[in-house]
Amino acid sequence: MTPVLQVRGVTKSFGGAAALKGVDLDLYPGEIHALMGMNGAGKSTLVQILSGAHPADGGTIEVGGERHSALTVRKARKLGIACVPQRRELAMGLTVAENVLLGDLPTRGGTVHWQAVKDGARAALSGLGIDIDVERVAGTLTVAEQTMVEVAREVRRGGRILILDEPTACLSAKDADRIRQLVRTLRDDGVAVVYISHYIDEVMAVADRLTVLRDGAVVTSAPAAEMDPASLVRSMVGRDVVSRRPERPAPKPESGLTVRGLSHGRAIEDFTVEVRKGEIVAVLGPAGDAQSRLFDLLSGRQRPDAGELRVDGRAVPFGRVPASLASGLRCVTGDRRTLGLVQGMSVDENLMLAGDRFAGRRLHRRSELARRAAPLRGSYGVVALTGNPPVGTLSGGNQQKVLLGKWLETEPVACFLEDPTNGVDVAAMADIHTLVDELASRGVAVLLASSSAEEVMRLADRVVVVSAGRTVAEHDITAITRDELVATALGGQPK
Ligand SMILES: Nc1ncnc2c1ncn2[C@@H]1O[C@H](COP(=O)(O)OP(=O)(O)OP(=O)(O)O)[C@@H](O)[C@H]1O
Ligand SMILES: [Mg+2]
Repeated sequence: MTPVLQVRGVTKSFGGAAALKGVDLDLYPGEIHALMGMNGAGKSTLVQILSGAHPADGGTIEVGGERHSALTVRKARKLGIACVPQRRELAMGLTVAENVLLGDLPTRGGTVHWQAVKDGARAALSGLGIDIDVERVAGTLTVAEQTMVEVAREVRRGGRILILDEPTACLSAKDADRIRQLVRTLRDDGVAVVYISHYIDEVMAVADRLTVLRDGAVVTSAPAAEMDPASLVRSMVGRDVVSRRPERPAPKPESGLTVRGLSHGRAIEDFTVEVRKGEIVAVLGPAGDAQSRLFDLLSGRQRPDAGELRVDGRAVPFGRVPASLASGLRCVTGDRRTLGLVQGMSVDENLMLAGDRFAGRRLHRRSELARRAAPLRGSYGVVALTGNPPVGTLSGGNQQKVLLGKWLETEPVACFLEDPTNGVDVAAMADIHTLVDELASRGVAVLLASSSAEEVMRLADRVVVVSAGRTVAEHDITAITRDELVATALGGQPK
């Protein structure tokens, strides 16, 4: 069989540092080709070159027998290359039908033919086995449904090479399953799928072929059947990675964080949890609804309809960010791009931002900033291609580490972490888990919102399972297995 896409010797540098060093890649129709690698390995850079968003510095891309040295977004699309980036890009105020046919709305007598729009969208969705009402407004869809709508739109536009950048990050087990099912359907229809994910088990289950990038170069490309999880991790990281629950001191009797009867619209209904000092309590549920709402409410960004919050035994008023911070509570958002980091500021500035605010420090000398940020960069393992670039240019996982460093170095009494390993690689995930262990060992009360049962089993002392805004179960972690936890999260009937 001939490849639909052949990449040869593609290079790309940013500010003199090489992000891609001569990458080769062959894509075949009807295969799921996983692109793996640590944070900063160059996966997204390669994707951006394939989709025409960035020009390559060197090398060629051959599509359907035609060779190109530079692609533009328009040219890539014409060649059937489509990309669904990690961040959803639907027009949230429009319906599903409008989104699917956007840019290609059928008209009749000069006006849009709405029945045809709906019919076209319905056909596009059902052709891929997707069951979503096309008259719904995109903003009301779950993240998984938004991803499916984007995929349907790209396939309808003629996408034959479909690139999915971390499509299952932060999804519940059930939603991730729906996405994987969709990807298999695409493959069976002859689409070449490039699949980026940091979840080893998932990739082993779904991919036909694996290509591993390390430091901008391909280190392995092999059929998935010839690889096992351990060898995959080794080729990505260059060593073995083990992440085990450590022995931690028993939680103290005092409460560090108490939430009682918290309700906010339909996102959270009567949520109660108590976290002792030195304890890690996980809230397991799909990312998005209840979890982000918890962030908004606990951080003081929003006022709930009802509820009570205590930190270190003292009542904390809702709806005021300074009051939440003054109580010693640190809330780390799962939405690092819009809420967590100041994209235009440098890595070091972002790292020191929160600490400096508490210390009342305002002015910086550049050299001093670098000196104070250096140990933080070290302990959080922040890696940049060049010196101290704007934080927005870091790879996703490295941005996540900056975000954690920014907040967790400010002597918290309690913290709320929303999906702290969102988008980080296996090695960084193990590092971040160790950082969270250490927080708890220092006596911090940790409330962890997570969408991953593995992460909950690894970190938490107790777990509260939420579904549709309500608590459906609560367990000591020693009293439940991973499979039981997944089953509870899936079954999810309110108790
Ligand atoms: N616009 C840019 N300016 C400067 N450096 C950049 C830019 N885009 C990417 N880089 C750097 O290029 C390298 C590769 O980044 P890339 O985003 O491709 O990694 P990745 O494999 O997708 O990582 P992740 O798993 O974290 O998403 C990183 O070191 C990153 O900091
Ligand atoms: Mg990336």
